[in-house]
Amino acid sequence: MTVSTRQQEIANWFDKTYSRRGEWYLRPVKAYYIFLELLKVKPEEKLLDIACGLGRLLEAATEYDCELTGVDISKVAIEKAQDKLPNAHIQWANAEELPFDDSKFDVITCLGSLERMLNLSRVLQEMKRVTTTNARFCFLVRNENTATWNIKKTLGIQNETGHQGAKSLQMWTNIFEDEGFEIVDILPDQYPLQKRILFKSLGLKKVDYRSVVKSDQPIEKANELIFILFHQVFFRF
Ligand SMILES: C[S@@+](CC[C@H](N)C(=O)[O-])C[C@H]1O[C@@H](n2cnc3c(N)ncnc32)[C@H](O)[C@@H]1O
Repeated sequence: MTVSTRQQEIANWFDKTYSRRGEWYLRPVKAYYIFLELLKVKPEEKLLDIACGLGRLLEAATEYDCELTGVDISKVAIEKAQDKLPNAHIQWANAEELPFDDSKFDVITCLGSLERMLNLSRVLQEMKRVTTTNARFCFLVRNENTATWNIKKTLGIQNETGHQGAKSLQMWTNIFEDEGFEIVDILPDQYPLQKRILFKSLGLKKVDYRSVVKSDQPIEKANELIFILFHQVFFRF
């Protein structure tokens, strides 16, 4: 597997972040159930989480009795995820060069990571290659059309070393369609909405982390966007 100098820099930044900030860098496991619910993951399906980080999505997915695989370019992430999930197949790999046979997986998740990829087109083509024709995909991607992102840009505090990026809803839509995906649904990131419910109710309201929360904000303004996708095909069996 080849890793360019720039990709190694990104991996080093994540190695350092996971070593220093550990579990605190990512959202809690309960915030990952929604992706599995949206994908309607079924027992015995083969699920691949690309850029799996510390294995949060895979940890949530252990409840769904499917076959779990994860890859990441950060060796620290892989070590920690393997320790936590000895029954999952977790390996160090570059998303641009997936070490799997064609048509192996039924479900792919890639959360908070596509904007980190240097060659997005290659990653998306690899995802298509390693999945069955009827596969489902879930991507969580950052939206550039938000106050938070604009403040970061104005102050020049995006994380350049870790290749933090963002695109508009329209740009992401065009990229996925041009790369041969059919978009089934687009939703705002659910975790900030769930946290708002808790905050407003002073922590008294019970939050159902597996259900979609209705947002009063237009989707174009959500900080992060959830895309559910299929392969673009004429006939589905
Ligand atoms: C913001 S973290 C998200 C981690 C995880 N998906 C989650 O939601 O907990 C982004 C991840 O992308 C990984 N990454 C960046 N470029 C990659 C590449 N080319 N191949 C595989 N993983 C990559 C990083 O190592 C990091 O773990």
